Amino acid sequence: HPQIPIFLTINGTLHELKVEPWVTLLDLLRERLSLTGTKKGCDQGQCGACTVLVDGKRVNSCLALAVSRDGAEITTIEGLAENGELHPLQVAFIERDAFQCGYCTPGQICSAAGLLAEGHTPSRAEIREHMSGNLCRCGAYTNIADAVEDVLM
Ligand code: FES
Repeated sequence: HPQIPIFLTINGTLHELKVEPWVTLLDLLRERLSLTGTKKGCDQGQCGACTVLVDGKRVNSCLALAVSRDGAEITTIEGLAENGELHPLQVAFIERDAFQCGYCTPGQICSAAGLLAEGHTPSRAEIREHMSGNLCRCGAYTNIADAVEDVLM
């Protein structure tokens, strides 16, 4: 099979990789790099469990071919904590009980981190709208919005 050389900076570390053109960013992260914090839910762009940041913007990694992101800077849930300190969104999710089973949580937090990176103060409605692509089967939506609000508002 043809393999294409790409460079990705993932959580601050430069990776030189060779990947088949059909490999998704999600599968690359989970299966090649063992960054299993990013979850596979639907694998069709509908649930948001696979959300990561690509050049600071959130992306459903199941819909992104790894080769199309050559040169990009990727941040996954594993890269949000710094210097042994949880990211403020991670702290807020714990404090607000913003999860039950936790499967959607990495995607929820990465999605919120994308909103945080936009740099403006969103309203509660804007938070709900922004997070609407991140499904939570446990229905923790109110607590999730509370947690995001704690950090962003
Ligand atoms: Fe990517 Fe569901 S796994 S959106």
